Amino acid sequence: MEQKIRAINNLDDLTALYTETFGKNGTMTARLKQMKDLDPDARAALNTENAAWRELFKTRQTELETAALMEKLAAERVDVTLDAEPEQRGALHPLTQSLHDITTILESFGYTRKTGPEIEDDWHNFTALNTPAHHPARDMQDTFFMTNGNVMRTQTSAIQIRSMESGGVPIKIFGIGATYRKEMDATHSPMFHQIEGLYIDKNVTMRDLIADIRAFLARFFEMDDVELRIRPSYFPFTEPSIEIDMKWHGDKWLEVMGAGMVHPNVLRNCGIDPDVYQGFAFGFGHDRLAMLKYGLDDIRKFYDGDVRWIRNNGF
Ligand code: PHE
Repeated sequence: MEQKIRAINNLDDLTALYTETFGKNGTMTARLKQMKDLDPDARAALNTENAAWRELFKTRQTELETAALMEKLAAERVDVTLDAEPEQRGALHPLTQSLHDITTILESFGYTRKTGPEIEDDWHNFTALNTPAHHPARDMQDTFFMTNGNVMRTQTSAIQIRSMESGGVPIKIFGIGATYRKEMDATHSPMFHQIEGLYIDKNVTMRDLIADIRAFLARFFEMDDVELRIRPSYFPFTEPSIEIDMKWHGDKWLEVMGAGMVHPNVLRNCGIDPDVYQGFAFGFGHDRLAMLKYGLDDIRKFYDGDVRWIRNNGF
C-alpha cells in the first residue's frame, strides 16, 4: 500500500484510492467491519495498519498540494527583468505651444490678456464695431447665426469692445480665441483662432502699431528683424485701415494681418472721447502664424486630433 500511495502523482488519483480504501465500500472499511472476529493481536495490528495508511494518505496529500501550489506560482510568476513598455511622452499641440509663445511676447510688450464669449451678441460682434445692420461689410464674414439673433463670434474684435466697455481707457490688451465662419478648405476651417491687440491712450500713433508688430513678428518667428510691407485696406472699425505683409524666406510676401487706427465711432460706442484718445487695433490669424512657424500646410490637421500628426511634425 505504501508504494501504491507514493506512486500516485495527482490529487484526483489519490482521492480515488482513498475512497477505494476508506470509503463506504472500501477495502479497509470492510476489514474494520470484521474486527470483532479477530484475536487481540490481530486487532492491534489492524488498528496500527489503519492508522499508518491514513497517515500515508495525509502526507501524500500535503506533498501533492504543495507541488500543485509551486507549479501555479511558477506559471504565474512575473518576470521583473522583462523590458517595460516604452514611455509615451506627451506633446503640446502647435496651437497651444504658440498660444504660450504669443502670450509671453505680448505680455512683455505691456499688453494684458482678455477673453470674451464665443457666442456673441450683434452689438459686440458687429454694431459697436461700426458695422450696423445692413452694413455691406457684414458680407465680408460668413457668419453662423443662432436662432435668437446671436452669432458665433466671427472675429476677436468683439473682445476689444468688451474690454473698453468694462475697463475704459487708457487700455492695452490682447485677446486670443476661437472664431467661426462658414468656410472650409486647406487654409480655412469653420473654427479658427484670432489674436487681437488694442492700444488706446492719448498719444498712440500708427508708428507705435508698426513698431509693435515688427517686434512681435521677429520674436515669434525667431528672426533678427522682419521686413514689412504696409498696404491700405478696409475694415469698418479702423480708419485708416492697413494690411501688413511680411517678407518670408527672403523672396515671398505673405499677408499676415489686418490693422488700423481705431475708428472714432468705435470709441464713441464705448463711451470714449475720440478727440482726447486714439489708438490702434490689429488682428492676426493664430492658426496661420502657427502653420508658417512650423511649416504646416493644412489647417484642418489642427483639428483632426491625430496624435501621429503631432509626433510626425516633431512636437
Ligand atoms: N477683425 C478683422 C478680421 O477678422 C481683423 C482686424 C482686427 C482688422 C483689428 C483690424 C483691426 O478680418
